[in-house]
Amino acid sequence: MAFPGTGKIWMNGKLVEWKDATIHIASHVIHYGSGVFEGARCYATPRGSACFRLDAHMRRLQLSAKIYRMEYDLDLAGWENAVLETIRANAMKSCYIRPILYRGYESLGVNPFTCPVDAAIMLWDWGAYLGKEALEEGTDVKIASWARMAPNTLPAMAKSSANYANSALIKMEAITDGYSEGIALDVYGNVSEGSGQNIFIVRDGSVYTPPLGSSILGGITRDSVMTLARDLGYTVAESIVPREALYTADEVFVVGTAAEVTPIRSVDKIKIGAGRRGPITEALQRAFFDVVNGRVADTHGWLTYVYPEEASLRSQQAAAIHAR
Ligand SMILES: Cc1ncc(COP(=O)(O)O)c(C=O)c1O
Repeated sequence: MAFPGTGKIWMNGKLVEWKDATIHIASHVIHYGSGVFEGARCYATPRGSACFRLDAHMRRLQLSAKIYRMEYDLDLAGWENAVLETIRANAMKSCYIRPILYRGYESLGVNPFTCPVDAAIMLWDWGAYLGKEALEEGTDVKIASWARMAPNTLPAMAKSSANYANSALIKMEAITDGYSEGIALDVYGNVSEGSGQNIFIVRDGSVYTPPLGSSILGGITRDSVMTLARDLGYTVAESIVPREALYTADEVFVVGTAAEVTPIRSVDKIKIGAGRRGPITEALQRAFFDVVNGRVADTHGWLTYVYPEEASLRSQQAAAIHAR
């Protein structure tokens, strides 16, 4: 996913050329990881481009900023509009969306209060994060030797740049050892999450995922998948997941904006279920891709159309064809 190096980036309310979207080396965020960010996706649907759960993502950005005492003069609607404006300016049909709030250039003490809070929104093309094949075949993961952050150290609920130092250690270890992804335990030894995904297990027809107290990011895909699973009639529980519950699960899958819904076929070289995508994973994957790609009615109001007039026109045309 190399960057194209062209297009426009939103910086503090202005659209600037990609090559000009730079910050000073003395910016606080570069030295101390003092940033919070989001990762959302815009999908090409039959009614035009639509962002998936844009409101939830921008709300989480605001809450991450709140935890880190970062103030920025933009309300929720302002954030959503800024993202839509950036997509329109780049004329992208589908893209990955990366808004970031960070402590900028002023001084370099640890104290971030002296530095301004700056913001940017960038977009790029990002396909299947763990590979297209993994979506169908499943992928192989290992339990990381690194634990996720202990409670009351770095807040896992904030999507902060600093947390991704831990994620990078997990990811590098997994790749070096020949796996696509690492699954971290929390400091109590229970399953937490992947380096950039939440995790689910399926056992005897029910669906389980670790709770917020297991040092996870409260994923928006996780929330969506829990809702879709309930819609499909499955029992869903947020529950402590011991490491061995992964090995003995009927199915395991990870979810996230980047990874979408990706089946896991082995953990630490132990085959999960039949060693391929399981039926409940497949059903949830289908339900998820149907919603994000606008192939079914958006009953939960999860899609924000980039060009609302075009979307409503296309809906009217579809309704007219249907009525004939
Ligand atoms: C550590 C971590 N956990 C979980 C997730 C999934 O969150 P979401 O579904 O909101 O993208 C992500 C992705 O951003 C992540 O980085």
